[in-house]
Amino acid sequence: MKIAVLGTGYVGLVTGAGLAEFGHSVIGADKMTEKIEKISKGEIPIYEPGLDELLRANMKRGRISFSSDLHKTIQAADVIFACVGTPQGDDGSADMSQIEEVSRLIAENLNGYKVIVEKSTVPVKTSHWIKRTISLYKKSDQEFDVASNPEFLREGSAVADFLNPDRIIIGVESDRARDMLVKIYDKVRDRIVITNIDTAELIKHASNSFLAMKISYINLMANLCEKTDADIEQVAKGMGLDPRIGGLFLKAGLGFGGSCFPKDLKALIKIGEDLGVDMNLLKETDLINSGRARLFLDKLKKALWILKEKKIAILGLSFKPETDDIREAPSIRLIRELLGEGAILRLYDPEAQNNMKELFPEDKTRITYCSTSYEAAACANALLICTEWKEFVEMDLRKVKALMANPIIVDGRNIFEPADVRKLGFEYYSLGRK
Ligand code: UDX
Repeated sequence: MKIAVLGTGYVGLVTGAGLAEFGHSVIGADKMTEKIEKISKGEIPIYEPGLDELLRANMKRGRISFSSDLHKTIQAADVIFACVGTPQGDDGSADMSQIEEVSRLIAENLNGYKVIVEKSTVPVKTSHWIKRTISLYKKSDQEFDVASNPEFLREGSAVADFLNPDRIIIGVESDRARDMLVKIYDKVRDRIVITNIDTAELIKHASNSFLAMKISYINLMANLCEKTDADIEQVAKGMGLDPRIGGLFLKAGLGFGGSCFPKDLKALIKIGEDLGVDMNLLKETDLINSGRARLFLDKLKKALWILKEKKIAILGLSFKPETDDIREAPSIRLIRELLGEGAILRLYDPEAQNNMKELFPEDKTRITYCSTSYEAAACANALLICTEWKEFVEMDLRKVKALMANPIIVDGRNIFEPADVRKLGFEYYSLGRK
């Protein structure tokens, strides 16, 4: 079986590399010629642990190659994974124009039976639109099937998630498509769950929104903790010990960002509303999340009163550790608000600085990008933790204190023990605990 993976973003590159590692023959394709040229030379455009090695090894073995000729790639493939973007549209729904474009391309190049697999997160019922689009534009009477095989990989551990998944959801409506997909995932066959297509599409949205809800729930509890003597870390621990709840995704803090949770949550709200379903539970989830940055800034103001001309160090720009991705990162909102207040920013992230520079270019008077946490802390009036990178947890706080103008830490990810930090002489604020 020849597999095409259309789209070379996070999902496309990991899917292509993972399928090649499973032993398949894969072509990764993207219309961005320059990007393809770079990837073909082994220059991977994103930071994802283990991805470089996996891609290079499989390119060497001849199992994966890259092309910007989408026509030829589609013609050569038996199975086509659509991994193009489904960004958020103006009204909160997912913008499906790239999926539609890919469907038309497939229609034009349908030279034999093919299975088109939705890998990107798409609204329930998308498969019907893909089918209709291909049927409308196809020039041959060749048959095809559409299937849904949602991706659950987490950035930062995407390669491991792909190679060792906890479930492979396959939504199909024909035995032929089912058999081909089962064969593709033969190496992890024991984890396959077969459903109809609508169910598979909804499983992805339902999972992401549930996890987002779990995070907003613990953040709501953190707000309660702040008004009482309760400690959110202990509340989360106590709750998580109940196996029905589980301890994961109960970390209070600045809330969720990234390319999936915020967008998918809004998209599911829109889908539900369009179908006449009351989606208030998820609307509240979204509202709680968007309130996190304000709450965090209020703490900073409580410490410094006026932010104008204050030097603020921000550690962590990516939406979570182990990635260079800044999409929907809480740091973006904080930077914007702090600049609006007239603060002077000293920013540091181990991987995401280049991405952030595109959004907030370096400007020696207001925004300085630093090469270490310590450099960022130098002369700062306060230090904010926005992402829990391991190197921040392991910082030498004595050194940090000596460098800062005022030893004030506002910790958006609760990475330090309050008593320990205070013992070192810091004024320390975190979320949901005293
Ligand atoms: C998520 C899903 O986990 C994955 O299955 C799906 O395919 C894509 O979306 P990802 O966005 O890479 O993956 O990151 P994830 O680890 O889920 O974290 C999402 C956000 O939630 C991050 O901003 C993280 O900081 C935040 N988070 C996570 C919390 O605030 N608290 C937690 O307890 C867990």
